[in-house]
Amino acid sequence: MKNLQGAPWLLAHRSMLKPNQPLKISLLGHDYVLWQDIQGTISALPNACPHMGAMLSEGWCLSQPDGSSKMVCPFHALEFNALGCTVLPGSNKPTQSLLKPLELTIQGDFVWSYGGHEPKLPIPSIMNGQ
Ligand code: FES
Repeated sequence: MKNLQGAPWLLAHRSMLKPNQPLKISLLGHDYVLWQDIQGTISALPNACPHMGAMLSEGWCLSQPDGSSKMVCPFHALEFNALGCTVLPGSNKPTQSLLKPLELTIQGDFVWSYGGHEPKLPIPSIMNGQ
């Protein structure tokens, strides 16, 4: 199936995202894990762990002291922040981003994405609750 590149895709309504509960979504042939931290910040990363490919959506979220959350891989418990960085065992320093975050546009309670493509079409205003 061909998808229209540059079109906005409605991924979720905020009510579908319980705080710190990962949700698997698919967009344009790719799987992602979507989660909302206790502050209401919503993030998305590719769903395959860069270590051995486990589905991050089968893992869990770990709250941080600042209220953000990290996604924890269910296989070997690497923790990824919203930028896709982790701290490897034996290190105390975050890696560079190992997972490219999915760009999201939050409008009201709706979570949209262009799937990493250049936006060409606007998000329909009818969905903004205005
Ligand atoms: S597969 Fe994710 S930490 Fe090993």
